[in-house]
Amino acid sequence: TLPAAVRIVEVGPRDGLQNERAMVPAAAKIELIDRLSATGLRCIEATSFVSPKWVPQMADAAEVFAGIRKAPGVSYPVLVPNLQGYERALAVGATEVAVFSAASEAFNRKNINASIDESIERFLPVLERAGADGVKVRGYVSTVLGCPYQGEVPLADVVRVARRLHEAGCYEVSLGDTIGIGTPGKARAMLRTVAAEVPMAALAIHFHDTRGQALANILACLEEGVAVVDAAVSGTGGCPYAPGASGNVATEDVVYMLEGMGIATGVDLPKLVETGRWLAGLLGRVSGSKVTLAQSV
Ligand code: HMG
Ligand code: MG
Repeated sequence: TLPAAVRIVEVGPRDGLQNERAMVPAAAKIELIDRLSATGLRCIEATSFVSPKWVPQMADAAEVFAGIRKAPGVSYPVLVPNLQGYERALAVGATEVAVFSAASEAFNRKNINASIDESIERFLPVLERAGADGVKVRGYVSTVLGCPYQGEVPLADVVRVARRLHEAGCYEVSLGDTIGIGTPGKARAMLRTVAAEVPMAALAIHFHDTRGQALANILACLEEGVAVVDAAVSGTGGCPYAPGASGNVATEDVVYMLEGMGIATGVDLPKLVETGRWLAGLLGRVSGSKVTLAQSV
């Protein structure tokens, strides 16, 4: 049965922008997040405290995080790859962080220069510190439906990594189809298998729309009972270490689908569309949201 309400995790300012070649000024990132805060979104991933050598676009993480208006009732998680990132995030007052691993060894190596086991070892001290500091930790598992380097990803590996992140203290584990390769039957089967080991209430889904399957995949997963969906305004994004991973599912389109089905999101769609249109203008491209394009004609 479908959930009555869905919590949307807006990842545009992080997943959406991290792959932009041209530097987006910190002031524009701050304006984006402030605009998103006014749309009714309750969770906005603001930036990532990763190595600036690896992802130059996120080098301004501290400036961006310090500059945003923290709206009451909105959480602003930030991505951290290690203790060094956690400390940088804490120094500017982050109260929620996200750690990330992948179900594919090959992808993990390219993305964070570590094996799956090493990456989890690296997160344990972050989770320990976060527990002591009262900081919430979200976890990501990438490449849950396929990997750009190794191809097929065994479901058992997805389950193993998701379970370890949850057991280590992540309050929620987001399952990422990093390269947008999955189709609804596979997405549903993947979620069902993971949910046998990690409670559904602690799971989120994260689809990239690379092959146009994201909304269909989301619907299939909603039918399985998941109630947290990651999305990026204007359909921006991709992972710098996943060639062709362009485009998270557009938040506007997710909100349109959910509200159209009578599932509450709390998001003001016209305000979100306006924000997405502003962002597309800023980036000098056509919006990745179909809903926005339909309203432009
Ligand atoms: P490394 O080179 O193996 O690590 O990188 P290192 O510890 O040897 O550090 C190298 C240099 O970076 C050192 O500086 C460190 O101090 C510095 P140097 O001594 O050479 O001057 N450094 C840092 N600086 C600032 N903040 C830090 C930090 N850590 C080290 N936190 C590392 C390993 C993990 C750091 C690197 O690989 C990295 O930052 N990777 C991040 C890659 C990334 O951001 N990928 C995109 C996010 S994941 C994603 O998009 C998927 C997701 O959306 C879900 C989905 O779609 O599936 C979440
Ligand atoms: Mg992603």
